[in-house]
Amino acid sequence: MNAPSPPFCTVAIDGGAASGKSSTARGLSTRYHLLHVDTGSHYRALTHLLRRRGQPPEEGEALDEALADLPLSARVDDHHAVLLAGEEPVREKDLRGLEVNEWVSTYAALPAVRHRLLALQRWFVPFAREEGFAGVVMEGRDIGSVVLPDADLRFFLEADPDERAARRRAEGQEDTIADRDRRDTERQSSPLVCPEGATRIDTGSLSLPEVIARVGDAIERFREKA
Ligand code: CDP
Repeated sequence: MNAPSPPFCTVAIDGGAASGKSSTARGLSTRYHLLHVDTGSHYRALTHLLRRRGQPPEEGEALDEALADLPLSARVDDHHAVLLAGEEPVREKDLRGLEVNEWVSTYAALPAVRHRLLALQRWFVPFAREEGFAGVVMEGRDIGSVVLPDADLRFFLEADPDERAARRRAEGQEDTIADRDRRDTERQSSPLVCPEGATRIDTGSLSLPEVIARVGDAIERFREKA
């Protein structure tokens, strides 16, 4: 007889730039058979596409039209949800390039941009269920506070800014971490916050396997209780 499938679990991971969200979420997704949704990559993709179209970061009809014209959908690649604009995902090189690093938090601060992505991001939960995943691990800045306020588990990752900047340099990326954190925290629309009730994890003092194990313990406790 097959073992009973574990209860469906939604995990929200928020935190500042280079706080370790993606590596943690990736590790959890394969270990616990969760769909990994990286919402930062959604804002990065939109920023790249809007800049390519020459759309400045200003609210108004032109932005609304540009956003309505973007044919957004998604496909699953192993455990990862990949955002598609048209047939193809935006190339990694463009998503993580200097131009997007510099502009993404300015576009992400616009309510129309956030509005365009919110329903899609929430839709990943029923989608993961239908696709037979045991849950979703979604990472970003406003997951536990706005996108999935009823998530079963909520975490907030943090680390010293120098440590985070060093991580980006080690990845070979030029990034403006302090500027992005400031813009993300100060904006009016869905700012970066530690959601109420979230567990804070300092990723500077722990190794990646230790961070994954800490969140993993909570997932296992959730599964035992449910
Ligand atoms: O990987 P890293 O931590 O550097 O950033 P990211 O998760 O790829 O997010 C890039 C940018 O998207 C952030 O600096 C925010 O401006 C924006 N973002 C957001 O506003 N809300 C989210 N839920 C996720 C990302």
